Amino acid sequence: MGSIVTIATSKGGGGKTTLATCLAVGLTTRGYKVAVIDADRNATFNDWHRSNYEGPEFLSLAEARHVEVIDLAQQHAETHDVVVIDTAGFENLTSSSAISTADYVLIPCMPDRGSIREAMKTAHQTQTLSRAARRAIPYRVVLSQWNNRGLAEKATRDDLGAAEVSVLESFIPDLAAYRQLTFTGRVPVDGKVGEQINALVDELVTLQAIPDTPSGPAIASSSAAPAAGGADPVGG
Ligand SMILES: Nc1ncnc2c1ncn2[C@@H]1O[C@H](COP(=O)(O)OP(=O)(O)OP(=O)(O)O)[C@@H](O)[C@H]1O
Ligand SMILES: [Mg+2]
Repeated sequence: MGSIVTIATSKGGGGKTTLATCLAVGLTTRGYKVAVIDADRNATFNDWHRSNYEGPEFLSLAEARHVEVIDLAQQHAETHDVVVIDTAGFENLTSSSAISTADYVLIPCMPDRGSIREAMKTAHQTQTLSRAARRAIPYRVVLSQWNNRGLAEKATRDDLGAAEVSVLESFIPDLAAYRQLTFTGRVPVDGKVGEQINALVDELVTLQAIPDTPSGPAIASSSAAPAAGGADPVGG
């Protein structure tokens, strides 16, 4: 039985699909059998996967209906190590369903006030749905589009700390390659970027958010094409 990891924040453009992409490709490269369910009516991820994605293969499905998304996630958790659900950028019933059926919720947060506010709202929503379901639904905020030395980043950490919101140590760096993803279809998994994604996967294993042993062999990361022009951090 695999894990269901739901990626949610009510902040539009908050980094959900980018995090889902990093996680899906990072996990697949490590040998995990991955299914992504695109629960956003726009189906941005699923369209991108079908038309642009170049890299080690994983299953991508689109389901934006609030009952069906639960059935689909649970069904694919039987045959996959990890089911990642990418949700829409506003509060809606399907996102609530995806949070309710999750083993773990990841809430991306970029270094700006709007992202912090929506991340806190989504953390609160997760806690409330957890009480409603009478079971623990753990969550962590994932710092996204992140430059560890930035001033806005420091203020964001302070605000999240003051609100006692749980934050992952690993973060998704601010990378030109992620901005270009919709054009290139190539997800960087080599070098320093690969190490950061691996650190995220390791942390999720430690938190028991995902299984510690993948069911397949790891894929040499060179088989996932590196981003065109390298994966240069945008500022540090
Ligand atoms: N780590 C990153 N580095 C650079 N750019 C990023 C990063 N994460 C996200 N972006 C950019 O920010 C924009 C929004 O990101 P993304 O599409 O992942 O957000 P989203 O939460 O899925 O949006 P929506 O709410 O519309 O579904 C995109 O243009 C994306 O390329
Ligand atoms: Mg999205």
